[in-house]
Amino acid sequence: MPGIVLITGASGLIGRPLCRQLQDGGYTVHALSRSENDERDGIKFFQWDPEKGIIDRNCIHDAVAVIHLAGEAITAKPWTKAQKQKIIKSRTESIKLVYKLIRNNSSSRVKTIISASGVGYYGHRGDELLTEQSRPGNDFLAQTCIAWENAVNEGETLGLRVVKLRTGVVLSSCGGALPQLAKPVKLGIGAALGSGKQWMPWIHIEDAVQMYIHVLKNEQCKGTYNMAAPSPVRNKELVTAVARRLKKPLWLPSVPVLFLQILLGEMKAVVLNSTNTSSEKISFSGFKYNFSSLDDALKDIYG
Ligand SMILES: NC(=O)c1ccc[n+]([C@@H]2O[C@H](COP(=O)([O-])OP(=O)(O)OC[C@H]3O[C@@H](n4cnc5c(N)ncnc54)[C@H](OP(=O)(O)O)[C@@H]3O)[C@@H](O)[C@H]2O)c1
Repeated sequence: MPGIVLITGASGLIGRPLCRQLQDGGYTVHALSRSENDERDGIKFFQWDPEKGIIDRNCIHDAVAVIHLAGEAITAKPWTKAQKQKIIKSRTESIKLVYKLIRNNSSSRVKTIISASGVGYYGHRGDELLTEQSRPGNDFLAQTCIAWENAVNEGETLGLRVVKLRTGVVLSSCGGALPQLAKPVKLGIGAALGSGKQWMPWIHIEDAVQMYIHVLKNEQCKGTYNMAAPSPVRNKELVTAVARRLKKPLWLPSVPVLFLQILLGEMKAVVLNSTNTSSEKISFSGFKYNFSSLDDALKDIYG
């Protein structure tokens, strides 16, 4: 039955449409934000500062579920040691703060925690088909996801139902990776990255939002799920499909790995890691994708 859902990172790419869909479904949305503390579009904002350990204790009042999306953007700044710490801690210390609040509130009604994670969990894995049981990788993205999921798993000690969604590239015209990928294509200088053979799990923003609502409503959903369409594509197929949809030619050779190494350093993993994820577990739970084919997803996004 709908109730109050507390969302961290509600102002982000996934959070904004998720809040709207939850409200349309009869839920009341409370949100934790570092900057907003008012009411907007029917969402009540509460302030927190996870870095300083500050949180408005009223945010949890009467909430039945928490959706944890907050986190420093992965590619916002170069991966210095300090920035890497920020990327991890903004995901781990933040959820620990929410758990502390729940633990110290004997009348807490929170039953469920749903958290984002990333397909970066698996690292670079060639053509291997990756299920939720597959072992993790060992690069920085994998270490981030492991620490993030471990912190979220602490919810089990509070008796919560814990769900983690290992998210692929979310396709939306409003932000995220797609506009970045489309920019050079629009300028006529689009090209595959590296060998172009790396698998890139993707998901249409609408399906991403619906998957959060699916696992929220279905109490049998527990543990980890890959959040990507049933048809991951290789990087070259993705770039080609975007160029086709934008009616732009692709004539340049692939961008060499060495160039990406010089340009991005360790962050090259974001575009070069190959992750061929399985969507069997979430489909088996009854989730139906609206966009299973990349062409349909891009057609919807670009019109
Ligand atoms: N979009 C994707 O393709 C994708 C893929 C894989 C995983 N994910 C993960 O899914 C989650 C949601 O994704 P998204 O694309 O909606 O993210 P997003 O647009 O970057 O938004 C994340 C939100 O987190 C909050 N935030 C940012 N930096 C923070 C910090 N240092 N400390 C605490 N909060 C901070 C911000 O809210 P306030 O400014 O209001 O505090 C922001 O709106 C993220 O954790 C992301 O890593 C996304």
